[in-house]
Amino acid sequence: MSDNSPYFFIKEFSSEELIKILVNKVRELRASKEKAEELNTRLQDNMARLEEAQDELSDQKDKMQVKMTELENAKRELANQRDKLQIEIMNKTQELLKSERLSAIGNLSARVAHDLRNPLSVIQNTSQILKMRLESNLDDKAREQWTRLDRAIYRMSHQLEDVMDYVRISPLKKKDYSLCVILQDVVERIVTPDNVEIHLPENDKEIFCDPEKLEIVFVNLIMNAIQASENKKGMVSIGIFDDPQDNNNVLVKVSDTGIGISDDTLSKIFEPLFTTKQIGTGLGLSSCKNIIEQHGGTITVTSVIGKGTTFTIKIPKKSEWNSLSKNEDAIQTESA
Ligand SMILES: Nc1ncnc2c1ncn2[C@@H]1O[C@H](COP(=O)(O)OP(=O)(O)OP(=O)(O)O)[C@@H](O)[C@H]1O
Ligand SMILES: [Mg+2]
Repeated sequence: MSDNSPYFFIKEFSSEELIKILVNKVRELRASKEKAEELNTRLQDNMARLEEAQDELSDQKDKMQVKMTELENAKRELANQRDKLQIEIMNKTQELLKSERLSAIGNLSARVAHDLRNPLSVIQNTSQILKMRLESNLDDKAREQWTRLDRAIYRMSHQLEDVMDYVRISPLKKKDYSLCVILQDVVERIVTPDNVEIHLPENDKEIFCDPEKLEIVFVNLIMNAIQASENKKGMVSIGIFDDPQDNNNVLVKVSDTGIGISDDTLSKIFEPLFTTKQIGTGLGLSSCKNIIEQHGGTITVTSVIGKGTTFTIKIPKKSEWNSLSKNEDAIQTESA
């Protein structure tokens, strides 16, 4: 073997030595291979665990995102609730301030109305006496001026009555009374213009109520119905019905064929001092509401613009106070 041969190093070892070296090398290689395989297995294990952890993490991430969305929704809902509450508090505060102001105005108006009623009735009576005395000497112009004076006096006394009806929340003087009689008295009291027909109910119901207070209610409702007809032909129909939902109540419906009420206005009509009329005080319907609520009833309204309006009064036939007082009577009679 020449020095240029690629196997030059072999010449330094004997063949036994070479075999030994080779066997050792093979052993070393096998050990390395086993270690590499072991490492590989561990690596694969770790990779699998890592993948599991990654899946778990992405699961957690998804859950977190759902939670975050839920939290954000809850936060938004809370903010909405807070805004609503703030608006509600603001409205309630304003209502409270308004009712305080109204109660102060109410007290003052009651006093003024009360003090004005007497001098006004003196003016009214004196005007009538003078008119009777001077009637024959009056020319057309003076007669017209006198009519204007009478109209002004009527308007003032109507407004004073309205104020008094509204502020005078006196205890009810209840008795068993026919609704038809109350309605007939009311229709006789008011002046019905020729363009309006009033239809009274044909049936009747007796209820335990304060007839004078209910007269105030029906005068207001019928006057409003007449005014809603403006100068056109109109009809006001009043009906008495059993309440289909509760046999202890009676329903009285006052319907007209007048101008109707817009949705916007409808929510305000029971508020004191709300009026759309030039010479209205806006106390009529709030007095009605007070009186009906004092009787333990309710008053509601439905309306169609251009077609007409219906007010429905629901009133107990016998209030609890009645049954109590009757029981007391019975107890007293028994013990007597
Ligand atoms: N039958 C009706 N048809 C149409 N609008 C009505 C009717 N009844 C009430 N309204 C509306 O409700 C408002 C309030 O009525 P309310 O009786 O309280 O006061 P008013 O009639 O204006 O004044 P007044 O104190 O002289 O009665 C009226 O101004 C009117 O706009
Ligand atoms: Mg009115």
